[in-house]
Amino acid sequence: MADMTGSTTTSAAWTALVRHRDDGIAPLGKLLADDPGRATRLGIEVGDLWIDPSRQQVTDTTLALLADLADELSVAASFQRMMDGQPVNATEGIPALHTALRAPGHEVIRVGGVDVVPAIHATLDRMSDLATSIRDGSRTGATGEPITAVVSLGIGGSHLGPALAAEALSHLAQADLTVRFSSNLDGADLVEALDGLEPASTLIVVCSKSFTTVETLTAAQSARAWLAGGLGVDRAAEHVVAVTASPERSEAFGIPAELTFELPQWVGGRFSLPSAVGLAVMVAIGPPAFMELLAGMRLVDEHVATAPTLRNGPVLLGLIDVWNRSLLGRTSMAVVPYAHRLKLLPAYLQQLSMESLGKGTTLDGLAVDTSTGAVVWGSAGTDGQHAFFQLLHQGTDVVPCDLIGVARTAADPRGAHQNLLLANLAAQAAALTHGRTRAEVAAGGTPPDLVPHRTFAGNRPSTTILLPELTPSVLGQLLATYEHRTVTAATVWGIDPFDQWGVELGKELASRIAADPDGGDHDGSTIELLRRYRELRGT
Ligand code: F6P
Repeated sequence: MADMTGSTTTSAAWTALVRHRDDGIAPLGKLLADDPGRATRLGIEVGDLWIDPSRQQVTDTTLALLADLADELSVAASFQRMMDGQPVNATEGIPALHTALRAPGHEVIRVGGVDVVPAIHATLDRMSDLATSIRDGSRTGATGEPITAVVSLGIGGSHLGPALAAEALSHLAQADLTVRFSSNLDGADLVEALDGLEPASTLIVVCSKSFTTVETLTAAQSARAWLAGGLGVDRAAEHVVAVTASPERSEAFGIPAELTFELPQWVGGRFSLPSAVGLAVMVAIGPPAFMELLAGMRLVDEHVATAPTLRNGPVLLGLIDVWNRSLLGRTSMAVVPYAHRLKLLPAYLQQLSMESLGKGTTLDGLAVDTSTGAVVWGSAGTDGQHAFFQLLHQGTDVVPCDLIGVARTAADPRGAHQNLLLANLAAQAAALTHGRTRAEVAAGGTPPDLVPHRTFAGNRPSTTILLPELTPSVLGQLLATYEHRTVTAATVWGIDPFDQWGVELGKELASRIAADPDGGDHDGSTIELLRRYRELRGT
């Protein structure tokens, strides 16, 4: 997607960054001690988010050089091309216009000469009509009973964003409605999603951009059979709607146009939450709250398009990701939301980041000559503290972390839990930064043989992101920040963040094996696996 004026590692800024890295960066503890105003100076307000990169291993020189890199590699111009609808998804020859999904109705954004905004708003209106009719009880099923449960079937981008948003905003969900998600090909997932529901009052949303995804279509067939078991085959059809960019395929599957909600081809799955893919979320929280989510994303779109590089939250985070990955050699990053309702954020970001940045070929078709996407992982804090933080503090790899805090929550108005959560976040950030020296440990009376075990090296980077509370707008701001951060890193690396060719080979082989387990030229390991599987199943 880069509007390249040079390639990453041959750029002057890159050469300067390598030299700067080799000169050495003072330890984080010293950077903070020498500059008490560092957090205030480097921290950025993006809408309601406070983003503090002051615990990253960067100096003012690092940041200035990263800004030069962004200039040299035309990051701002690339965002402009993306938002203008240029075909920035070069390997698929299409735009990546997720920003258009949250554009106000009066904006004009053309793709191939056609303004796409009216169609986006028409779909939002249709979604809103359906959501409203379910929420007010006027949408009835084939037997006349009101629809009180919605089960959204989809995987990857057709699942992770909506599931995260529904969970994060579950405090806003209408109490007498059930909204569930099912993604896994394992039938146990669907059984769980349908458990306790009645076909007569359930609507199934089959969410698949391509409408070819085996996991989703298999679940859709099974869900339709479940509906038919209660309602009969003909009446079951009224209880299934589709969300897709391939309406001809959903129609062939038996879902008519009037029950199909379209998303445009040029929206990447992992960027598709603000499209019709968010239908189940809209049902749960209501159309106005869903529009607030979109408005929050829009706010960050405007910020990323206008803020100068070092005051631009998503761009700065993306540049620091490049610094950590390519210059400092950090192979992974942990995402730790100190909020139970954000516990699906790491899974969502795994797809957003790793499907976007896990690329080894540049837009010019050449092998990249630096490391690209990091492994993204994590869990909700404080659970993570009792699982993997040991490695973060004393393991042999340095893992940059995002520590995300929330100030207020209706679940804890007195703040009894919240205050402790934030204390934990602050404590972990400080412990990662400063560690504990041998001398400090020894001075505490630790027996000499235990001193090395109880010493913490410190100098482990983290970024703190503080949210006022989990409103739809704040969630939208957070997710759009991560989207643009991801695109920034891709632009610097000169890779296409919008394709995902790497998932194709496995899909192709799976369908070949499923269709003909005995055929093909399987290797010995596959043959033995299939033989043992058949033996266990007695087939
Ligand atoms: O995992 C590959 C992928 O193509 C993702 O990019 C996408 O979000 C997911 O599968 C689901 O695809 P679809 O929405 O077409 O079913």
